[in-house]
Amino acid sequence: MAIAAPQPRPGILDIEPYVPGESLLPSGVTPIKLSSNETPLGPSPKAVAAYRSVAGELDRYPDGASTALHAAIAARYGLARERIVCGAGSDELLSLIAHAYLGPGDEAIFTRHGFLLYRIIILANGATPVVAPEKDLRADVAAILKRVSERTRIVFLANPNNPTGTYISFDEVRSLREGLPGHVLLVLDAAYAEYVQRNDYEAGIELVATTNNTLMTRTFSKIHGLAALRLGWAYCPEAVAGVLNRIRGPFNVSTPAIAAGAAAMEDVEHVELSAKHNARWLPWLAAEMEKLGLKVTPSVANFLLVHFPESAKSGAHAADAFLKSRAIIVRRVDAYGLPHALRITVGTEADNRAVVAALSDFVEGAAA
Ligand SMILES: Cc1ncc(COP(=O)(O)O)c(C=O)c1O
Repeated sequence: MAIAAPQPRPGILDIEPYVPGESLLPSGVTPIKLSSNETPLGPSPKAVAAYRSVAGELDRYPDGASTALHAAIAARYGLARERIVCGAGSDELLSLIAHAYLGPGDEAIFTRHGFLLYRIIILANGATPVVAPEKDLRADVAAILKRVSERTRIVFLANPNNPTGTYISFDEVRSLREGLPGHVLLVLDAAYAEYVQRNDYEAGIELVATTNNTLMTRTFSKIHGLAALRLGWAYCPEAVAGVLNRIRGPFNVSTPAIAAGAAAMEDVEHVELSAKHNARWLPWLAAEMEKLGLKVTPSVANFLLVHFPESAKSGAHAADAFLKSRAIIVRRVDAYGLPHALRITVGTEADNRAVVAALSDFVEGAAA
């Protein structure tokens, strides 16, 4: 007789567990870590000071309404406080959104090389992932709209997208919204918005403000340099904020995260410094890779998708192994359906020069 054992709900065992960017090398040497799109400049010193300032309060529950953080975000972007929802990383917010709006029989759409978490959270809620093809590794609005059915509940769009670094313009996002039925929630995941330096880009605030079915998520993990704290925020239609506030943990954001997040949000100068650093080194890295004969997908974020030849000797897996031998960790993107590419985060000047020098040696060695 079969022994009874607890079974998860259908869909959960179809999930390939998310594999984060690597951070340790077996030898224990301190690596150059360019695998998780963290900022090379670190957090604002004011955020670190705010984090330390609450060390004496660890025995108390946090402010469940994250009042100081909401106030800082609202002031920075001119938003309605009651429409902001904060979470333990934008990961948590995206999961809550899926949990609230998806169930068995429902469909949610994302693009072919879209952020991996979307598939996970759709399946976790028993719903069906629907993949829309991209054009030149860019989201294709017509292809997304073509896959809408009466079962569609959510469209997840990372803009800019990870791992491609590509984006679509505000006009395209607007036409996506206009083409979607009103009951479909459009989730604009703008984790890399602060890095984008394009006149035709808008993170999502405008659409959230003017529709009742568009939501934007943001993170403190990237340009704000607070990935370890786990902090993200969403700007939502009022009704959606009400839904998320009902199902989130009552204390889902910790006191240190509230304090550091508010200080980070206020330190506009530090964010600008990071954006400036990126604006200088992103094109430099892309140009250097191209000089090595590698194809680079044009990126507006803080990382580059670099394409290698489809060969064992000079391909992406060999390059990854070679970089590791030089203590440089980048991101393999096989799980995104991109086995011949590597994703490389913009680092410090020294990191960037080191990765270019190493790849130059790799390309030369492979050609020999
Ligand atoms: C597109 C995108 N969305 C969301 C996240 C999640 O960020 P976090 O949970 O750290 O806020 C990431 C992190 O890699 C990302 O690349």
